[in-house]
Amino acid sequence: MKIVVHIDDAAQWQNAIAQALPHADVVTSDAPPSERANADYLAVWKAPAHLFEEQTQLKGIINLGAGVDHLLKTPELPKDVPIVKLRDAGMSELMADYVLYGVLYFYRSMDRYAAQQSSARWQPQTVPDKANWPVGVLGLGAIGSYVASALQQAGFPVLGWSRTPKHINGVRCLHGDEGLNDLLSQVQSVVTILPDTAATRHILDGERLAQLPKGASVINPGRGSLIDEQALLDALGQDERSGHLRGALLDVFDKEPLPADHPLWRHPKVIVTPHMAAPTPLNDAIDQVISYLHAFDAGEPVATVDPKLGY
Ligand code: GLV
Repeated sequence: MKIVVHIDDAAQWQNAIAQALPHADVVTSDAPPSERANADYLAVWKAPAHLFEEQTQLKGIINLGAGVDHLLKTPELPKDVPIVKLRDAGMSELMADYVLYGVLYFYRSMDRYAAQQSSARWQPQTVPDKANWPVGVLGLGAIGSYVASALQQAGFPVLGWSRTPKHINGVRCLHGDEGLNDLLSQVQSVVTILPDTAATRHILDGERLAQLPKGASVINPGRGSLIDEQALLDALGQDERSGHLRGALLDVFDKEPLPADHPLWRHPKVIVTPHMAAPTPLNDAIDQVISYLHAFDAGEPVATVDPKLGY
């Protein structure tokens, strides 16, 4: 079995796969073309197009991340090869930490204290009752549902939204257009963890952002395409006093890296992080990668990505 690996720290993944599968030929994508051709399986994150073009006998592709948008947008991706993706694989906990940080940042007024510090102003802010600080989570897949539960366990009322109906203990789960309107009209913070698909592009546009209560905040660790960036800038206004929205914590952007001259970098109500909310943790993910390889090789059923749905 030949496996070609492409990801930032590919050598570590190569070693981990080779250790678990001593009879497999595991190579990284920077090997010479003759060595990386004729793979049975690709284990990849943001792979270059030529890696797909070079393959002649590919039986499966393992996406070394949760989102498959980059993979599905690659025109050279073979049409008839099954794709699997990492599901949770340690990313949910990282994402929950990031989101909890963001919700607590606004809930405990850290944005206001940062602004006060710049003028040496000593002014404790009132701490609202958590019961009056509902949080909305858009996207209830493996990661979104974990995040929704973590927020609920942290004491916040949580409303969740997904395309199809879901049930999560302690979370008010909504779906459909009406469900989305209902959620947006109530939450103090909205968190977007949806996949990037044609159906989710700009799901938070100007109209939907205006549905949020005045002073609500936006946390996006999902995909840049979920939010209309210009509409977000408009809804934020110029400073602490102006604008419908209180602030935003953003990890993902329409264009990454976020261009140096983009107004989001310098907006006083925005925190920018460089797509770091939930990097795939090798130790947690490797068992899942190995079990996919075993299942593919044994011809056992695996939960594949539906390219039409985009996840
Ligand atoms: C990261 O963005 C992922 O999709 O895993």
